Amino acid sequence: MAADSSSQNSKILLTGIRASGDIHLGNYLGAMRQALQLQTKYQSYLFIANFHGLTTTPKAEELRKHTRSIAAAWLAAGVDTKKTVLWKQSDVPEVLELAQVLTCLTSVGLLERAHSYKDALAKEKIIKAGILFYPVLMAADILLYNSDFVPVGKDQAQHLEMTRDMATYFNETYGTTFTLPEALILEDVATIPGTDGRKMSKSYNNGIDLFASEAELKKQIMGIKTDSKGLDDPKVAEECVVYQIFKLIAGKSESDEMKRKLEAGGYGYGDAKKALLAKFLEDFGAMRKEYDRWMKDTAALDQELARGAVQAREKATKMIKRVREVVGL
Ligand code: ADP
Ligand code: TRP
Repeated sequence: MAADSSSQNSKILLTGIRASGDIHLGNYLGAMRQALQLQTKYQSYLFIANFHGLTTTPKAEELRKHTRSIAAAWLAAGVDTKKTVLWKQSDVPEVLELAQVLTCLTSVGLLERAHSYKDALAKEKIIKAGILFYPVLMAADILLYNSDFVPVGKDQAQHLEMTRDMATYFNETYGTTFTLPEALILEDVATIPGTDGRKMSKSYNNGIDLFASEAELKKQIMGIKTDSKGLDDPKVAEECVVYQIFKLIAGKSESDEMKRKLEAGGYGYGDAKKALLAKFLEDFGAMRKEYDRWMKDTAALDQELARGAVQAREKATKMIKRVREVVGL
């Protein structure tokens, strides 16, 4: 396993997906795909954030299901576990220890500025402390492995800024211990729109889920909201969510063709949705099969996670030992 980040290819990449539902296209294009593409370049740490999942999934069976499903998604999408470490967050409890240390350096004011907390304030009557604490645990995830790069969607940019703040407070208080991580956000996939035009999110129920049944996918794609222009009307492709998504998964010539047809008129939103469904099934067909295979072979899946946990924990233990020393525990 690569140790410290002294040269370019020993730099560390880390990202996590919250165990809170099914993987959708936004998760894949925004975070997973770039992480997977970079696994040959950087020592990579990929995990399933099941402690974070507790903030939204209070049912044990559901949380277990989401955790396995995200692990299967990582594996199906191409994690090379010979090189990359894949584990579930709760298998490395040292992360909670670091989070506890970080809470003592982090002002409540900083946490109250988090978009995730403000969203919860707007929606919920009672805010659980876990929501306010969410960015601290995320910072602990990142700092525990001395991560250099964190591929994420744009919605996580603020959490990454907070992580850098926490690392800076820590380094200023106790001496340089942590690397300041950098978010990797790709502009064209920073915020994938959902079927209702808002950001695609597990919490908005507006996803196109990578591993849903064909019938369910059809329902999701056919349900994409469009304006009321009729079949013959010329349409504005750039304003159409179907086209916006199609463009991200199809090649340039195919998407240019859809744009031309939409703008010419005589090509309906229903036609565009059918083309999107077909493209989606073509592009993700092999991955979907792999996912089903992993979901059926839970013993193999659990074994991969157990192996990853040992590797992750080995690294985490070294860092936590150092943290304990410098803070005086
Ligand atoms: P969700 O909002 O669906 O619960 P997560 O919070 O688990 O998704 O996000 C996992 C990763 O996927 C994060 O890096 C996040 O930034 C990215 N992501 C989520 N939704 C989108 C989106 N609509 N567009 C781009 N990236 C996204
Ligand atoms: N907060 C991230 C999300 O909701 C998931 C996450 C937890 C994460 N810990 C992380 C992402 C560390 C990157 C790095 O999407």
